[in-house]
Amino acid sequence: MQSLEFPQIVTHAATATERNQRRARAGIDKALRQRLERDADRLELLGSRSMFQREQVEASSDVKQHARYGIDAPGVVRAHIVFGSLLALTASIGLAWPRPNPIPASWSIGAAVVAALLLLYAAVMLRSSLVSKKRVRDRLVAALALSGNERVLDAGCGLGLALIGCAKKLTTGKAVGIDLWAAKDLSNNNPEATRANAAAEGVADRVDVQTGDITRLPFPDASFDAVISMTVIHNIPSRDGRDQALRELVRVVKPGGRIAIFDLLHTSRYKDVCKAQA
Ligand SMILES: C[S@@+](CC[C@H](N)C(=O)[O-])C[C@H]1O[C@@H](n2cnc3c(N)ncnc32)[C@H](O)[C@@H]1O
Repeated sequence: MQSLEFPQIVTHAATATERNQRRARAGIDKALRQRLERDADRLELLGSRSMFQREQVEASSDVKQHARYGIDAPGVVRAHIVFGSLLALTASIGLAWPRPNPIPASWSIGAAVVAALLLLYAAVMLRSSLVSKKRVRDRLVAALALSGNERVLDAGCGLGLALIGCAKKLTTGKAVGIDLWAAKDLSNNNPEATRANAAAEGVADRVDVQTGDITRLPFPDASFDAVISMTVIHNIPSRDGRDQALRELVRVVKPGGRIAIFDLLHTSRYKDVCKAQA
């Protein structure tokens, strides 16, 4: 009884029960005995409810926040899923239509093939965001060969996948992330979510999240030991803009420092621009 969550309610119910028990023992009437049984049921219900609530409270205090690194190009993924599903539905209706079928079979088959390709592309993009990117991140961070005391910049950090990967390798160093928080490039892209991810991964004290454009970095020359950037630079639409971003990465890294870049497009040019600037 003492372990219940609602001591007052339970105590009240228990007192009523005790009173009824006494009267029932005195043989007042049969109806009273039935009421006594109802009281007992009520007590049991209260007991179960309070136990359940206590378990919920205990569970919620144990809940550990997990970092979420988002989905790249969420609008593109959504559009592929929506159009793919609509085409798949159209193709199914076309193929299932009773004869004589006004829709040519070749149209329905064509729609089914395009639908399959759209949905496959969406699945590949989702897998890349949720699985493959983490492996790439691990390789990229390893390439920086961090010893623990470095100051590292993640250019276009988004929700902190590479930023936090670097921070985990640091002891006295600092990982600085900078981003413009473009919603079209990454789902739920915002600095608070990135800080929450750093806290969830236990590296909040080694992470600094800032807002800024990587084509105009707000840092002095040679202020970082290493720079990392993942799937960012191709999002800058013009070649001049991408070149400018690369020159900025080279400018802020110390002589002898490392730059690790992973990107989806234009990568053959990146090395040349970086070498020319260095
Ligand atoms: C596909 S997301 C990748 C985010 C993160 N690097 C990752 O791998 O999860 C691209 C990121 O680049 C950022 N970005 C694009 N252009 C930028 C710019 N000129 N300056 C700063 N960030 C930029 C976007 O806001 C977005 O967060």
